[in-house]
Amino acid sequence: MLPKHVAIIMDGNGRWAKKRLLPRGAGHRAGLKRMIALADHAFERGIVCLTLFALSTENLSRPKEELDGLYSLFRDYFPAQSERLKEKGVTLRVIGDIDLLPEDIRAIIRAGEERTAGGERGTLALALGYGARQEILSAVNRAVREGKELTEEEFSALLYTKDFPPLDLLIRTGKEMRLSNFLLYQAAYAELYFSEKMFPDFSDGDLDEALEAYEKRERRFGKL
Ligand code: IPE
Ligand code: IPE
Ligand code: MG
Repeated sequence: MLPKHVAIIMDGNGRWAKKRLLPRGAGHRAGLKRMIALADHAFERGIVCLTLFALSTENLSRPKEELDGLYSLFRDYFPAQSERLKEKGVTLRVIGDIDLLPEDIRAIIRAGEERTAGGERGTLALALGYGARQEILSAVNRAVREGKELTEEEFSALLYTKDFPPLDLLIRTGKEMRLSNFLLYQAAYAELYFSEKMFPDFSDGDLDEALEAYEKRERRFGKL
């Protein structure tokens, strides 16, 4: 069966650029272009929820120059891309603590989410200023404030992913084999897939390969 919810840790932009003797920002630009085309392909393949890790809480301590480059790419692309997603019926969501981002970026995000709300084809979630530990802690703190013990269902309802289908497949590009603070709770029973390709080189065909590998896996969820 095709996974409903796929998440991708889009890693390797910097190394992609370095190998070509280009500045890291050129890698981010190439990664962004790849991301746009790859998301189209994923929805064409029938995936209904695609969560893309674009900027972690920890990435926010990278040099200002790199962050400014990422924010300006975002300003250049996000408004038009959200319009395009609306036409395709894809709902755009940003998960993460957007208060960590510049004010104008927050406004662009809110406008994009409002513009695409209610799209029935699927959800594209962009993780920006996202950290799984922070997400879990803020859910725990909320429960503590309300003074109540939670069931698994109630806990899930406090996470950014509350209205997403369960995570089926988690892909990481860029050779590393770690989760780097991404969807730690949601990935409990996700299938993991690691690609050696740097993200700007991760093609539509590479996604198809990951989907094929997923379809061959036997998910047991601890049962016999
Ligand atoms: C991933 O690429 C994108 C972001 C974290 C913004 P990197 O920037 O981590 O690229 P590498 O890992 O240095 O190659
Ligand atoms: C993970 O990549 C975050 C994103 C892809 C957005 P990193 O490059 O931040 O991960 P580490 O530092 O190699 O673990
Ligand atoms: Mg990296």
